[in-house]
Amino acid sequence: MPGAAARARANIALVKYWGKRDVGLNLPAMSSLSMTLSTLGTTTRVTFDPRLARDELVLDGRPAEEPARARVSCFLDLVRQVSGVRWRASVVSDNSVPTGSGLASSASGFAALALAATRAAGLEAGLPVLASLARRGSGSAPRSLLGGFVALPAGTAPDGSDCVPYQVAPPEHWDLRLVVVLTASGPKVVGSTEGMERTRRTSPYYGAWVKENAQAMQAAVRAIASRNLEMLGRVVEASAFRLHAVAMAADPAVVYWNEATVGVVRRVRSLRDSGLPCWLTMDAGPHVKVLCEAGDADQVARHIGMVPGVLGVILERPGPGAEVLP
Ligand code: DP6
Repeated sequence: MPGAAARARANIALVKYWGKRDVGLNLPAMSSLSMTLSTLGTTTRVTFDPRLARDELVLDGRPAEEPARARVSCFLDLVRQVSGVRWRASVVSDNSVPTGSGLASSASGFAALALAATRAAGLEAGLPVLASLARRGSGSAPRSLLGGFVALPAGTAPDGSDCVPYQVAPPEHWDLRLVVVLTASGPKVVGSTEGMERTRRTSPYYGAWVKENAQAMQAAVRAIASRNLEMLGRVVEASAFRLHAVAMAADPAVVYWNEATVGVVRRVRSLRDSGLPCWLTMDAGPHVKVLCEAGDADQVARHIGMVPGVLGVILERPGPGAEVLP
């Protein structure tokens, strides 16, 4: 059976997902909206092979350890279920995002894997099937199937059939920049799945966090449609701070920030006060991503690159959806 390869880019949520309505099916409790990036991402090749006794995973050039291999193997069981293919597979995956660091490697990873594995199994799966597969790998992964600005509705259907991403605007709609600010190397302290489950179970503010989601989605969609950076920036920052606030209020507290995170937060605010429009967001890790207009990106990156503890900056713009490679 011939193999197949696919590439997907990471995405950064502008309106965040943090909490599940169904843990087994990995269904989100709230809608989210993201920007697919142009460079950071994952390329994955999958080959089903009758000679293999178990699924194999080579990640960034090295045979992967457990539990990463087992997570991919469970995912391939779902692809075997929908395709009828019984064979085990070899998966070779390369991330241009540091794996597991809170830089969305799981989103591009499972989007690329869903596309490559279904093709390798002989299926030309449409978006609903690809999205439901990708979502089982990682809740943020369906968004990386599409390019530009992408919404993923929480939906209400128990089987998740209405949790399918759609494009709010294509990449060329708005030439924004996202300055990705690296503040640490190494894996994150608490995985997203554990962090959000602990938040849902123990944070007294979880109800309020879920409740305000619909309004944030509406405002973000409107801001993107009218290319209003200040309006979008305010929604984006509020969503990020509220995610971290609800997580910090969990028991035990889920805290992703480090000293450099705080330094970058303060610098973004002072840049804005001095007239440079930029807004930040943060995910399940200590890195910060700063949203600004294309013409301001070099200046923003230069100022933020000087904050003590910052290890590097990467300039991203809206990028394309997942694609099958030759
Ligand atoms: C903070 O998609 O990694 O990046 O579904 O448990 O795999 P699981 O979580 P994951 O969580 C992403 C959380 C976030 C916000 C977001 O991308 O919406």
